[in-house]
Amino acid sequence: MEITIKSICCIGAGYVGGPTMTMMASKCPNLIFNVVDINEKRIASWNNEDLSKLPVFEPGLQDLIAKTRNKNLFFSTNVKEAIGLADIIFISVNTPTKTKGLGAGKSSDLKWVEASAREVAKYSRGYTIVVEKSTLPVRTAEVIENILSSAETNSKREEISFDVLSNPEFLAEGTAIKDLENPDRVLIGGNNKNAMIALSNLYKAWVPEEKILFTNIWSSELAKLTSNAFLAQRISSINSISAICEVTGADVREVSRAIGKDSRIGSQFLDSGPGFGGSCFKKDILNLVYLAEYFGLKEVANFWENVVEINNWHQKRISKIVIKKLFGTISQKKIIILGFAFKANTNDTRESAAISICKDLIDEGAHLLIYDPKVNPKQIESDLKLKQKNIIDNKNSLNDQLGGWEFCQNLEIFENVHAALILTEWEEFKNINWEKVSKKMAQPAWIIDSRSIVNPKEIKEAGLNLWLIGDGSQNDKVNFY
Ligand code: NAD
Ligand code: UGA
Repeated sequence: MEITIKSICCIGAGYVGGPTMTMMASKCPNLIFNVVDINEKRIASWNNEDLSKLPVFEPGLQDLIAKTRNKNLFFSTNVKEAIGLADIIFISVNTPTKTKGLGAGKSSDLKWVEASAREVAKYSRGYTIVVEKSTLPVRTAEVIENILSSAETNSKREEISFDVLSNPEFLAEGTAIKDLENPDRVLIGGNNKNAMIALSNLYKAWVPEEKILFTNIWSSELAKLTSNAFLAQRISSINSISAICEVTGADVREVSRAIGKDSRIGSQFLDSGPGFGGSCFKKDILNLVYLAEYFGLKEVANFWENVVEINNWHQKRISKIVIKKLFGTISQKKIIILGFAFKANTNDTRESAAISICKDLIDEGAHLLIYDPKVNPKQIESDLKLKQKNIIDNKNSLNDQLGGWEFCQNLEIFENVHAALILTEWEEFKNINWEKVSKKMAQPAWIIDSRSIVNPKEIKEAGLNLWLIGDGSQNDKVNFY
């Protein structure tokens, strides 16, 4: 039996719900898309006339919003109405790691998913396909089905019924529009073939059929966690190798290039950096760890937990290097932080390596001047759990023994600075005129590049000292044997 789809609802207007529905709306102009959220401020930003004020920064997103918003794409807080109208409902809410109770620190907090399922049970009409878009622990579909089937049995309304499908999202922030436009695959897990076909028909508007995979629902849920775990594992692997490069005289860029040529390994995701961030890698691996522990698979749990532990260790390693290079003390020294987002081309700072590294440096008494082209100071304040203080104009604060931070609007900030620490690979950092900057810095000054974006020759010619991640050239005379 063919299922007809006219109206789509997405619960959750975040980094996934917003861009995903915008792409679908642009590709399926005859269907109506209602994106709803309980966060009024977020919805107001999605509806802002000024497209530079959208809550999510993604290259290409503004153009798509301009084409679709208030035509067949609507952002609102009216959850009840959007659910009532919908033939398909995507649940795209946040699933962070639990902070207390059973499984705290590892398992996902499903309270937002559960609340969404309850809303669907309350307001839906007729037959509805409910789609897990959020990343969820394996067998969450069962929880959603239980809530929905008790609504089916108790409903005093017209007859209601549901099918639950898993359709995880694989977009990466910063390239969301590109990833959505041309996905490697679209994964649909479920039991009812007709419902799976109905969902796949939405994607077929622009995704070639051979890229749409059907699996059972648990494989789909597990494939999403596994995909993120494998990607994160590659970064922990190459970051651990960067530390070996630094002490042996090898160069991590050369090692990456050499291993990446092996088609079984592949060349992507081999850039050593300050440690992976983002809202998902850590949480999804910990989710896998929790699952393995729950089923008594201790060795499996330990294996994956180590990927997160190496990442924590690696971030600490970067803070220690800064301190070491500045003669073992950074108290009252000015250090520029170039980039606070967890990667370039996003305003997202969730789990950014910059958070823990900046905290460490502030604890050591440093005065940080933080610059990021897309992150606002309020976000940094909330991440560091510390208000900014005026470092440049207020002489008293320089006498202050405690460390602190100040937000900078542009890159005119190098006066009397002891070091610049590059944490995000923003394009504009590649164009800094180091020769000009060097004249302003407190000598001997250091450039600490955790993203390998500077040209070492330029730095040297500018009379600056350089520490480059995974660069062992300083240690090429090491005597091992
Ligand atoms: P987010 O925090 O940016 O957005 C989630 C939104 O859901 C919030 O705006 C919140 O207010 C809203 N919400 C929560 N409960 C609600 C309810 N009951 N009714 C209506 N709205 C509600 O999160 P995100 O980054 O978009 O991630 C969402 C999910 O997608 C997570 O499971 C995440 O793991 C997964 N995911 C994220 C990415 C990414 O790049 N961010 C990529 C793939 C998958
Ligand atoms: C990641 C995955 O790439 C997406 O497929 C997935 O959908 C998403 O998580 C999710 O489930 O949330 P995202 O976290 O947005 O996407 O960004 P990535 O490009 O994966 O980068 C994650 C972190 O790894 C960043 O801090 C980045 O700087 C770092 N990274 C990435 C490296 O240090 N080196 C690399 O070679 C690649």
